[in-house]
Amino acid sequence: MGSMEDYDNAKKTRSSDHQQQHRRSRAMILLLILTNTTSILLFSGAGAALHAHIGKHYPSITTWGSTKLLRELNVTGLALAASHAEVVDLSARLTAANKLLEAILSGKAAKRDMEAAKQEQREASTTGMLWRRDRRLPSGELRRAVGPHRLPLGPSSSPSRRLIGGEMFPALGQACHRYVAEVEQYMNYTAGEECPSDEAFAQRLMLKGCEPLPRRRCRPRTPAGYVEPTPLPASLWAIPPDTSIVWDAYTCKNYSCLVNRGKTKGSYDCKDCFDLLHGREKDRWMRRRTGAGDEDDDDPNSLDYTIDGVLATMPRGTVRVGLDIGGGSGTFAARMRERGVTVVTTTMNFDGPFNSFVASRGLVPLHLSVASRLPFFDGTLDVVHSMHVLSSWIPDVMLEFALFDVYRVLRPGGVFWLDHFFCLGTQMDATYLPMFERIGFEKLRWNAGRKLDRGIEMDEWYISALLQKPRR
Ligand SMILES: *[C@@H]1O[C@H](CO)[C@@H](O)[C@H](O)[C@H]1NC(C)=O
Ligand SMILES: *[C@@H]1O[C@H](CO)[C@@H](O)[C@H](O)[C@H]1NC(C)=O
Ligand SMILES: *[C@@H]1O[C@H](CO)[C@@H](O)[C@H](O)[C@H]1NC(C)=O
Repeated sequence: MGSMEDYDNAKKTRSSDHQQQHRRSRAMILLLILTNTTSILLFSGAGAALHAHIGKHYPSITTWGSTKLLRELNVTGLALAASHAEVVDLSARLTAANKLLEAILSGKAAKRDMEAAKQEQREASTTGMLWRRDRRLPSGELRRAVGPHRLPLGPSSSPSRRLIGGEMFPALGQACHRYVAEVEQYMNYTAGEECPSDEAFAQRLMLKGCEPLPRRRCRPRTPAGYVEPTPLPASLWAIPPDTSIVWDAYTCKNYSCLVNRGKTKGSYDCKDCFDLLHGREKDRWMRRRTGAGDEDDDDPNSLDYTIDGVLATMPRGTVRVGLDIGGGSGTFAARMRERGVTVVTTTMNFDGPFNSFVASRGLVPLHLSVASRLPFFDGTLDVVHSMHVLSSWIPDVMLEFALFDVYRVLRPGGVFWLDHFFCLGTQMDATYLPMFERIGFEKLRWNAGRKLDRGIEMDEWYISALLQKPRR
């Protein structure tokens, strides 16, 4: 019954609101008809002078006989003037606050941050944050994929379903909503048939923040002439047959092209990574031999740590599972596998079949960008390695989140091997050293050295470090 009363009251309030509004707008129209001057005064914030103005120039207004109307006019005018004045005041205060902020943050980095924040604000206001706030809602297969999907057996019959609630939402990258047309194109296929050959398009969407992509109900093309993979351990250093993959997405159309890419001109990601037998790839992270079969210990001043040197810092056999972030063709994982350590390699297919190649070596590839939360539970990994990829090209704030994520997935006593982190000398002191301090690692080893390939005047530096997650 109470709710019925509430409803009635609400209705009454609404209708009296309505009448009042109606009266106000009638008065408003009259007011505007009276004179342009009045409206100019009103909207220029000089509404306080309205009464005097009317009194002076339109004394005959009372002779219309409607003091009630005049009172209404007066009230409406004053109310409008007051709210207008409030807006003007608020706007002035905002401007002042902005100016103050700008004055305080006059440093270069602060200006950059401010610009970034402004850009963010602009983007947020133009695109909206959620599908629902977006003008463009997904349709067709995309609509079907993103859900929500009602649980057919209801929410309450098992612990996991209770946790899920009444409906399921498939995982989908937060920036997918910014590219509805592209994601719809990605989802434009015939269900149950072969998928379009759109690997590069899909990866571009991932890199733009639509990661994970929605699932699809189609089958990627099987390459013609597929042969069984090489067995382990020979697979670790074998170049797979060309027929093991579909080449549509890549400039190279066979593995010999990829193997020889290191010797050609042109800029490619990880361009000498496919040459497993003759190039640098073979020697990476290995002890340098000084002749006569002697093995050198690690040079303590070198940026090039060796796998055996790093493993030796931990109790024997306690490094068993790990992650290589941005591991290219998987050679780090291959070397670790030879030492009985299982390493998962995240790698992107930048104009090359990096994921397929890692898998063909008998290793685990993970098609995941550096923007993604690591898909491991807290405190589970013995080692995380990353060469070149986590570097100064990543926006500072994102990098800090990424480093905390590495800290999260490492177990207590686990080590993060930061391998050739690249930055400018000025950034090292101002930005990165304090950032590394904030994460909370203990430094087992730390080396900074100049990167000289573009000349010493470029002030470019590498950092290599062995960082341990504290045990307590
Ligand atoms: C208009 O408002 C002013 C200020 O509230 C008041 O003094 C004046 O008597 C009002 N005039 C009329 C006609 O209601
Ligand atoms: C889907 O693809 C077909 C053919 O490739 C095209 O004609 C059609 O316009 C596309 N539909 C959408 C919604 O993009
Ligand atoms: C591999 O591809 C290159 C061009 O990308 C071509 O010149 C070469 O003949 C191909 N090699 C084989 C073995 O198919």
